[in-house]
Amino acid sequence: MINIPIFDRAQVSARYIRERIESDVDVAVVLGSGLGTFAETLRDPVIIPYEEIPDFARSTVEGHSGRLVFGKLQNADVRVAVMQGRFHYYEGYSLDEVTLPIRAFGLMGVNRLVLTNAAGGINLNFKAGDFMLISDHINLMLISPLRGQHDHRMGDRFPDMTEVYAREFRQIAQEEASDMGIQLYAGVYMALQGPNYETPAEIRMMRLLGADAVGMSTVPEAIVARQMGMRTLGISLITNAAAGIGDEPINHEDVMQTGYRVSEQFSTLISRVLARM
Ligand code: HPA
Repeated sequence: MINIPIFDRAQVSARYIRERIESDVDVAVVLGSGLGTFAETLRDPVIIPYEEIPDFARSTVEGHSGRLVFGKLQNADVRVAVMQGRFHYYEGYSLDEVTLPIRAFGLMGVNRLVLTNAAGGINLNFKAGDFMLISDHINLMLISPLRGQHDHRMGDRFPDMTEVYAREFRQIAQEEASDMGIQLYAGVYMALQGPNYETPAEIRMMRLLGADAVGMSTVPEAIVARQMGMRTLGISLITNAAAGIGDEPINHEDVMQTGYRVSEQFSTLISRVLARM
């Protein structure tokens, strides 16, 4: 198992998914904590639990259902594959395992990707329930999913990271949010390994370093997508003020509750953006 190249493993997953859904996919979407609702809005859904997909890991975190939902948007002929729940480094998975679904999508020919997540707000203008367009990221996980023996079938050894989050997709998201009367901030997402939340001192450091929001996902997926030549849109839901900003302790229950509270609005925004990507 260990010795099978990640490309070949992702290829097996990709073929399996392609056979089950009997269709090409226009856009892939990864839903973060508490943001699963969007998947329920798809037409003619085909639902595949992760445990049925060869080489996929399992979702072990509450708020992450652990299934792939394929279907069409309600109001547009766009075929979407949605990950209702993702894999995290803090669950003990390797970054190969965390990013295998992205590679599988890439090998299925999907070249557009939407990554969503729940994040703590570091920017003092943010409040719980706000959305932040990810304009760029800082990888404070300090590990890359591309580490290891290079497989040229995956893409460049040294991919350029100048524009990980595609400018044209950000523009579309801004326009749709503005049309809906939603405030959509833009900012820098900083990823840490987790699973513990940060200390107030760490949050002060991150603000000095230029971060607007903090979370424990997304960056490895975005790096792999970049290497495979996919264009990515990233949106964070600010579920809480980061540590030390308010008086409240942070807990996963509140993070999920904020997700559920805005999930309908979030779902509408995502649908409108997807229809134009
Ligand atoms: N820190 C890290 N990850 C998070 C947070 C946070 O405050 N909120 C939601 N995900």
